[in-house]
Amino acid sequence: MADKAAMGITEISNTATETTGEQSKYTRNNPFQSTVLTNYLLTGEGSEKETRHISFSLDAGMTYTPGDAVGVIPENRAEAVSEVLSALGFSGDERVLDHYKVEIGFEEALRTRLAIGKLTRGSVGQYAKLPGALLCGGNGYDSLKLLCGPDNKARAEEYCWGREFIDLITDFPGAVTAPQELFNVLQRLTPRMYSIASAQAMHPDTVETTVRVVRYDSHGRARQGVCSGQMGERADVGAALPIFLHSNQNFRLPDDPSVPIVMVGPGTGIAPFRAFLEHRQATGASGDNWLFFGEQRRAFDYLYEEQFTAMHNAGSLTRLDTAFSRDQGRKIYVQDRITENGTELYAWLEQGAYFYVCGDASRMAKDVETALLDVIAKGSNGTLDYAAEYLATMKKQKRYQRDVY
Ligand SMILES: Cc1cc2nc3c(=O)[nH]c(=O)nc-3n(C[C@H](O)[C@H](O)[C@H](O)COP(=O)(O)OP(=O)(O)OC[C@H]3O[C@@H](n4cnc5c(N)ncnc54)[C@H](O)[C@@H]3O)c2cc1C
Ligand SMILES: NC(=O)c1ccc[n+]([C@@H]2O[C@H](COP(=O)([O-])OP(=O)(O)OC[C@H]3O[C@@H](n4cnc5c(N)ncnc54)[C@H](OP(=O)(O)O)[C@@H]3O)[C@@H](O)[C@H]2O)c1
Repeated sequence: MADKAAMGITEISNTATETTGEQSKYTRNNPFQSTVLTNYLLTGEGSEKETRHISFSLDAGMTYTPGDAVGVIPENRAEAVSEVLSALGFSGDERVLDHYKVEIGFEEALRTRLAIGKLTRGSVGQYAKLPGALLCGGNGYDSLKLLCGPDNKARAEEYCWGREFIDLITDFPGAVTAPQELFNVLQRLTPRMYSIASAQAMHPDTVETTVRVVRYDSHGRARQGVCSGQMGERADVGAALPIFLHSNQNFRLPDDPSVPIVMVGPGTGIAPFRAFLEHRQATGASGDNWLFFGEQRRAFDYLYEEQFTAMHNAGSLTRLDTAFSRDQGRKIYVQDRITENGTELYAWLEQGAYFYVCGDASRMAKDVETALLDVIAKGSNGTLDYAAEYLATMKKQKRYQRDVY
C-alpha cells in the first residue's frame, strides 16, 4: 500500500472503510434497499465468461459521479448455509449474538453476517484454537496444526486456495461445539464494490454495473463468488438488494471538458469508461475520447459493442481500439494496441491528454504501464528514465489515474 500511495495511486478495496457517496445518507451500515431494474448477460453464448449488466434503483437524493463505485451487501446462498449447518450438526434455530451483540438466529448469522466463502489462513488458525479442535475427527488435530503458525504459512495458503469453510469443517469435523464460536473463527461478510458503469446525467434514477460472475470448480466442488454469484443467480429484475454509493475522488474526468482522454479498460475494467463516455456525451463535452478495450473473443465478449460503435460512428468516441486476445494464435492485449499506436498516443499526451486504466491489478495494469513508458520514451526520443519522470509529472497533474482491483 505504501508503494502505491507514493506513486499517487489510490485504490478502493472491498474492505474500504470510507463508504459514503456524495451527500448520501446511505452507507454500508445503513444501505439503501434498492430494486434490481435490469439484469442481463453482456457476454454471448459460447463465451468462457458470464459478464452481466445490472442496474439498481436509487432513492431521491442519491448522487454519484463518473469514477465512483457502488457497494453491494451480499448474502450467502441458502444451499451453502444448509451445507454448513448440516456439517456442523446444528438446525439454524440456535440463537447467537452478532458483531453488535444483537441476538439473531444462527441461520441468519450464516446467511448475512459470516464469511463462509473463500477460506483464510486466519480462520484456519482460529478454528484450530477452538477447545473442540483437540478432538476433531477426519484428518485430525495434528494435521490441522500443520496448517497453523508462521512456519506453516505456505502450506496453509496452499490449503486455503480454492477452499471454503465447508471444506475445513468436512476435513476436520467436530471442532465447533457452539454456534457462537464461529464469530471467532470466520471473518465478517463484507460488501463488494463495483465500478459504476453509468452516468447519472443520462440515468438520473439508476446506477448501473458490469459484473463478471465468478464461478470455478475446485477440490471436487462447483463454487461461485458470494456477491457476483448472487447477482448472477438470485437477483432477477424486481429483487431487492442493499447498496450504497462510494465516492472515488482519485478517478475523475478532467474538470475541463475540452481536454482529451485515453481510457484503457479490458474486461469489466470497461465499466467506468462507459460512465465517462456517457457523461461526456450527455454534457456535450468537446474533448476527444480514445478507448482501448480488450476481451477474449470479439464474437462473444465485446461488452457494450453496439453502444460504443454508435458513439464511434457519431463521433463522440473519437478512437476505438480493441484487442481480442483469443481470436488468433498469438495473444493480443490492449498494451499491444497501445504500442502499435504509440506515435499518435504520444501526440495525445503532448496535447495534455489524461490517461486512465481500469481492471486487473495483478498483471494488466503493470503491463500497460510498461507499454506506456515505452511509448513515451520512443515518442520523446528519450530514455526510459526520462519516460518515468514524464509519467511521474502526469501523476502529479492527476493525468495518470488507475482504478485497479
Ligand atoms: C474498486 C473495485 C471495483 C470493482 N469493480 C468491479 C466491476 O466493475 N465488476 C466486477 O465484476 N468486479 C469488480 N470488482 C470486484 C468485486 O468487488 C468482487 O471482488 C468480485 O465480484 C468477486 O466477489 P464475489 O463475492 O462474487 O466473490 P468472492 O466470494 O469474494 O470470491 C472471490 C474469490 O474466489 C476465489 N477464486 C476466484 N476464482 C477462483 C479460481 N478459479 N480458483 C480458486 N479460487 C478462485 C479468489 O480467492 C477470489 O478472491 C471491483 C473491486 C473493487 C475493489
Ligand atoms: N475478485 C474476483 O474474484 C474478481 C471478480 C471479477 C473480476 N475480477 C477481476 O477483474 C478484472 C477483470 O476481469 P475480467 O474477467 O472482466 O477480465 P480480464 O480477466 O482482465 O480479461 C480481459 C482481457 O484481458 C486479457 N488479459 C489477460 N492478461 C492480460 C495482461 N497481462 N495484460 C492485458 N490484458 C490481459 C484477457 O486475455 P486472456 O484471458 O486471453 O489472457 C482478456 O482478453 C480482473 O482483475 C479480474 O481478476 C476479480
